[in-house]
Amino acid sequence: MSESAKLSFKGQDYEFPVITGTENESAIDIAKLRASSGLITLDPGYKNTGATKSAITFLDGEEGILRYRGYRIEDLAEKSTFLEVSYLLIYGELPTQAQYEDFSKEITHHTLVHEDIKKILEGFPSNAHPMGVLSSMICALTAFYPDSLNPNRTEEEINLSIVRLIAKMPTFAAWAYKNEMGHPVNYPDNSLDYCSNFLKMMFALPAEKYDVDPVVSAALDKLLILHADHEQNCSTSTVRIVGSSQASIYASISAGINALWGPLHGGANQSVIEMLEAIKADGGDAKKYLDKAKDKNDPFRLMGFGHRVYKNFDPRAKIIKKAADDVLEKLGVNDPVLEIAKELEHAALNDQYFIDRQLYPNVDFYSGIIYRALGIPTDMFTVMFALGRLPGWIAQWKEMRENGEPIGRPRQVYTGANERDYVSMNKR
Ligand code: SDX
Repeated sequence: MSESAKLSFKGQDYEFPVITGTENESAIDIAKLRASSGLITLDPGYKNTGATKSAITFLDGEEGILRYRGYRIEDLAEKSTFLEVSYLLIYGELPTQAQYEDFSKEITHHTLVHEDIKKILEGFPSNAHPMGVLSSMICALTAFYPDSLNPNRTEEEINLSIVRLIAKMPTFAAWAYKNEMGHPVNYPDNSLDYCSNFLKMMFALPAEKYDVDPVVSAALDKLLILHADHEQNCSTSTVRIVGSSQASIYASISAGINALWGPLHGGANQSVIEMLEAIKADGGDAKKYLDKAKDKNDPFRLMGFGHRVYKNFDPRAKIIKKAADDVLEKLGVNDPVLEIAKELEHAALNDQYFIDRQLYPNVDFYSGIIYRALGIPTDMFTVMFALGRLPGWIAQWKEMRENGEPIGRPRQVYTGANERDYVSMNKR
């Protein structure tokens, strides 16, 4: 028996269907709200509003649960690879051996980019933030593959765009870094796996031999898995709404990169390290900064803490925190900001302000410490987040298009001036 919800307004009763998902989450279907009652809803930040039905990622913020297509994030982080997780998110099932080999071979053979892209790269000054370079080069793919602008492409043509994105994003990311460093770019090495190829493009120099450290490559693969999707977060919602206008997948992903850039979202991993460095430079007094974070008159926030959905530990943060200890030990890295991070975490988890607001470490709190140990510079941390989130964005864009969802166009409550006559300049 389907359930419903009733609304009373100005003496009139309205009834709306309630839909329930496979994990027993329920939502009021208000598709007929305005037509039947003249009312709309208002929900800044969409804290209570579902934008879609999705079969890709399930997360339970109260229980700290995260699953990709039903598989637990803990199992995938331990047993899977980033390319396998990418296939799972995009196509819905874990690949067979043959499917996996085809997928990874396709990706390996699309890692090269058009030489003219280097002219775009060379147009950026060396102080350009790599996120701006990355989103520009992804959007430039619309110029090199103009067929991607056709909204009515076949599944095969869309799959080729998907392969191109996953294959070329590491090349663009590494080239953005090389542009910043003033180093010559490295071409992909198809003899290497996905993460090793990225690391070599990032760090190899013409003057020296470069061997990828398998510890670093394995740690990076795990980090990319942990970032691969997270249901309707800010950047994913951006990808979906841009794609809903039938903009190309390249334009939609480029928009997602720009949404992720913000310090309240993916940019937080860079802000966390900058915050920890500032605390260290200021004498390492964690409590002083905890008090700043609680002070309403101080704009300072404890970056890497809090989450719109997780009101318990972010399961990714738990895995990354353990990986940070393992990786730093294996690499023999002793990073003083890791100790400050642990001190800050302990203090916050025992502070009433944070307890009352259910503020826990999120995915960004420890990830920067690992990226730093892997030799990745701070302003590349959000690029790493984008590299991980790419298959999630693609999967969500593909689902939105396959479900034939309408163009996203929210309504508003107008609070501006009422009707008034134009006043000529000499009478103002
Ligand atoms: C990501 O959505 C996703 O899934 C995102 C993500 C993904 O995988 O895509 O998980 C990745 O973006 C993780 C979040 C990274 N951002 C940060 O670490 C930045 C610091 N955190 C926040 O600014 C904040 O917690 C948000 C943006 C993450 C969530 O903000 P909300 O849900 O809008 O909550 P809010 O800003 O309304 O805060 C509620 C209360 C407020 O206090 P009161 O007004 O109730 O007194 O908590 C306080 C806030 O001031 N608060 C913090 C805080 N975060 C919230 N106070 C101090 N430090 C913080 N970090």
